[in-house]
Amino acid sequence: MRHMADRRRSSPSAVAGRVAAVFPTPGRVPGEHRLPGPLEQRAYLIGGRLRAWEGPLREVHSPLRLRSGSSLRRVRLGAYPALSAKESRAALAAARRAYDDGRGAWPTLPVGERIRHVEAFTAAMVARRGEVVRLLMWEVGKSLADATKEFDRTVEYIRGTIDALKDLDRASSRLVIEQGVFAQIRRAPLGVALCMGPFNYPLNETFTTLIPALIMGNTVVFKPPKLGVLLWQPLLESLRDCFPRGVVNTVYGDGATVVGPLMESGGVDVLAFIGTSRVADVLKHQHPRPHRLRSVLGLDAKNPAIVLPDADLGNAVGECLLGALSFNGQRCTALKILFVHRAVADEFVSRLAAAVDALPVGMPWDPGVWITPMAEEAKPAYLRELVDDAVSRGAAVRNAAGGTVLETYFHPAVLYPVAGGMRVWDEEQFGPVIPVVPFAEVSEPLDYVRNSPFGQQISLFGSDPAGMARLIDPLVNQVCRVNLNSQCQRGPDAFPFTGRKDSAEGTLSISDALRVFSIRTLVAAKGSEANKELLSAILQERRSAFLSTDFIL
Ligand code: G3H
Repeated sequence: MRHMADRRRSSPSAVAGRVAAVFPTPGRVPGEHRLPGPLEQRAYLIGGRLRAWEGPLREVHSPLRLRSGSSLRRVRLGAYPALSAKESRAALAAARRAYDDGRGAWPTLPVGERIRHVEAFTAAMVARRGEVVRLLMWEVGKSLADATKEFDRTVEYIRGTIDALKDLDRASSRLVIEQGVFAQIRRAPLGVALCMGPFNYPLNETFTTLIPALIMGNTVVFKPPKLGVLLWQPLLESLRDCFPRGVVNTVYGDGATVVGPLMESGGVDVLAFIGTSRVADVLKHQHPRPHRLRSVLGLDAKNPAIVLPDADLGNAVGECLLGALSFNGQRCTALKILFVHRAVADEFVSRLAAAVDALPVGMPWDPGVWITPMAEEAKPAYLRELVDDAVSRGAAVRNAAGGTVLETYFHPAVLYPVAGGMRVWDEEQFGPVIPVVPFAEVSEPLDYVRNSPFGQQISLFGSDPAGMARLIDPLVNQVCRVNLNSQCQRGPDAFPFTGRKDSAEGTLSISDALRVFSIRTLVAAKGSEANKELLSAILQERRSAFLSTDFIL
């Protein structure tokens, strides 16, 4: 595949023209991507029943505008329940009842049967793929290619989780004998998990905690993110039908209203949250017995790239473009600051700016589109502030129309030269602003990483083995993934995904997630003759689901 960085540069007026025409008239929305009409969602799932909400609703508008003459019109997508603390407590109570202190049907169900429930849900989910993908486009502005990828990757993740659990179960289906003590060691559930994903991956990053939590025998309350809520509606009936009553429950509405009471009750055993460290701290502190709370958190990041003088510049520009601008930079793993050696900085910036100028902009369904409107209504104004601040302190916007705002659309801005003291040096922009910092000594970006409050990933671009190795060794103790001549990313999902400092707590990967949502538990007996007979009888007569040498094929 040809890197976007190799495409021909567009003229500044052509870029400005594309930006001005970014929003289509209603007639130009292809039929297959139109929504049938506003989705007025009143249903929420508690205790195996889809209840109809009669209270206030929260309006949902798309970040995509439609042109009508010379004005741009907001598109109303529908509404969803603004539940109160009362319904939120009812959701938690239903999950606690279904768990029943570990005695419920779900936590005691044999692993093979829990897998069958998840498989049934996966099949039902796949049948709603088209609707979910369409809502992903309209609710968060994700391109058709990325929205489809998010859905398919999620299904792959679920299937991978099932396989990983079968492996884990097979490995635990045996007795171990140590110092004359017999034991069977398995992983058991923890209780009720509260799962909350982020708006940039509302489906995928909710399911990457929801599914492992469920399959390990926990019961779940989940709250969709602030954006990307309606896309859950096509899945609600399947969640109700494929799992026993109370195993999956939903809460909708304002986080402070519906999540605060859950945490304050002490009834949440596992907090799975992807969002900001500020909110994570608030939630954790709300729990009355924090030592009882297990947390798995994906938080803030400002992943840097370091481009050394001997880097393959074509590759470095292409990967930095992908890293900084995939889904408009709205990824926790995005490259958010680029350190480029002075010897190649001018050349790098000029090639990067040309590559940005060549990017197709438009609506999520436009073929080959890269840059789409921002998911958050207030984001373009914030990004503009970052650009203005950097420019007022000596940086320049190096690409055509960089930083242009048109309602929810923000055109990417390559800022150069960026230096400490500018807001974009410290702040996580979570959007298409690309700060480029020239450096003379490699100690400069290394100091940046050491002093940063974040510690997720880094990308290194270079070709000299000795030079690269000198950077790898100190950096692996600062961040959790060092990418060589490649952008930062979470995948493949079999790899561990985590971070240091303010970037994460706990590790997620297909297999790690199974561990996060469970605890090692064992049945042990001193190896007396009487105990051996007892163990044999329980095993041979298949008296226990836990103490069992059966395994899943
Ligand atoms: O927003 C953060 C996501 O975990 C990033 O995942 O690197 O696959 O886009 P990704």
